[in-house]
Parts: sequence; C-alpha cells; structure tokens
Amino acid sequence: MHIKSGNDRIVMILPKQGFVLKIARFSFKKFKKLLSLVWEYLINEKMKKVVGEYGGLIEYLSVHSLHSIYENLRERRFYKKTKHPFFWPTWFSFCGIVNIQPYAHKVLEFKTETEKGIWFLQCQALTEMYCWESNHSWSCGNFCVDENGQARMLDYGAWSIGFLIEKYGDRLLKELRPDLNLSDNEIEKLQHESASSRERWQENRLDFLKFIRST
Ligand SMILES: Nc1ncnc2c1ncn2[C@@H]1O[C@H](COP(=O)(O)OP(=O)(O)O)[C@@H](O)[C@H]1O
Ligand SMILES: [Mg+2]
Repeated sequence: MHIKSGNDRIVMILPKQGFVLKIARFSFKKFKKLLSLVWEYLINEKMKKVVGEYGGLIEYLSVHSLHSIYENLRERRFYKKTKHPFFWPTWFSFCGIVNIQPYAHKVLEFKTETEKGIWFLQCQALTEMYCWESNHSWSCGNFCVDENGQARMLDYGAWSIGFLIEKYGDRLLKELRPDLNLSDNEIEKLQHESASSRERWQENRLDFLKFIRST
C-alpha cells in the first residue's frame, strides 16, 4: 500500500487488492469553521441572504467548509448518473468521507512543459474551452490510461465536470490522446479550434455558471 496526497483527498492505494480509498481531508480547524458558519447563519439575518445566494446552507457549507466531502459526493453522483466510460468508476461513497475506486495501473504524468501544453491544448479544443471552468481538474495527474490506451478521468468532483462530460465525454474518450503523438498539422488544428471557441465560451460563461449552480 502507498499513500498519495491530492488537493482535496488523501488517497490510500492498494494495488494488490485492486482498489483505492479516497479519504476527504477534514481537519479540526475545518470542523471549527463549520460550527462557526452554522452559528453565524442561525443568529445573523444578513448571513441568511448570503447563504440564499448560494442556493441553501448545504451549498454554502460545501464551498466554505465541506469542500472535500462534496468532491467525493459529486464524484459518486456524476458516475452513478452518467456511467460515462470517460470517468474511471467510483464504486461507492461512504457519505462523502471515503470513496472507493478501482486501482488504476497507469496514472498520467507529464514532465515537460511542452508535454503538459499539448495535453491541455487537447482538453481545451475538445471541451470548446470549458475546461477552464475548473482547470485544475484537467491536469494530467487527474487522469489514467486504461488497457485500451484511452485516457480516463480519475478526479472529477468539481461542479462543472458532470455537465461537461455529458456533453463532451464521447468526443474526449475517442479523441483525447494520452500518448501525445500528434503531428504538427494536428496541433495546428487544435490551436485553431481552441481560438475559434474562445469568444463563444467567454460570451456564454455567465449563463453556464448560473446553469451549473442550478443543477
Ligand atoms: N483510482 C486510482 N488509482 C491509482 N491512483 C489514483 C487513483 N485515484 C487517485 N490516484 C492517485 O492519487 C492522486 C490524488 O487523487 P485525486 O483523485 O486527484 O484527488 P484530489 O482531488 O485530492 O486531487 C492522483 O493524482 C493519483 O496519482
Ligand atoms: Mg487531483
């Protein structure tokens, strides 16, 4: 067994057993913050308005205190709802505290800036720039390569990901190339596609974010 520390989870990796446990990071400090946010909500009328803008107390707490638990819950929810093959499966979530995923043999790891650039360029073009809504989710360490050589997403708890994979998942599964073996012409085509989506993405951003909040 070995342990990896992600942005929001501590991941216990059990290759022999064939699964990993993704444990939400939750500290005593966060617990204290949670209690103080709930207390403020109960006694302060102004806070009720602020919380209302987030869509409710649960949504407010998920942003300000329980972030990692909600990452786990969303990961399970997105997988269960879509069963999209671009998602590496999330078998189970124990109330968002621990998630279980099958062990991935090959997590993507690019060393050079050029490799990282070609990877992200593909993500940009294949999501019509919407990967920028949660760009940390699209870094290579959040993906693995399966036995067919296809890239699959391991870390998909960010708000926007469920919708993006419903929309772009089929294309990503088919066209995203983790071997980065692209010709100059193909790279130019991706650059062109990204540039032509940029304006549309910027124009539609606010509506998209409102839509995501409402889902
Ligand atoms: N199913 C898995 N199989 C093997 N390694 C994994 C798996 N899930 C995560 N990891 C490893 O743990 C790291 C952190 O996991 P991740 O899901 O990205 O958590 P976080 O949301 O905290 O960043 C990943 O970068 C990867 O190296
Ligand atoms: Mg991660």
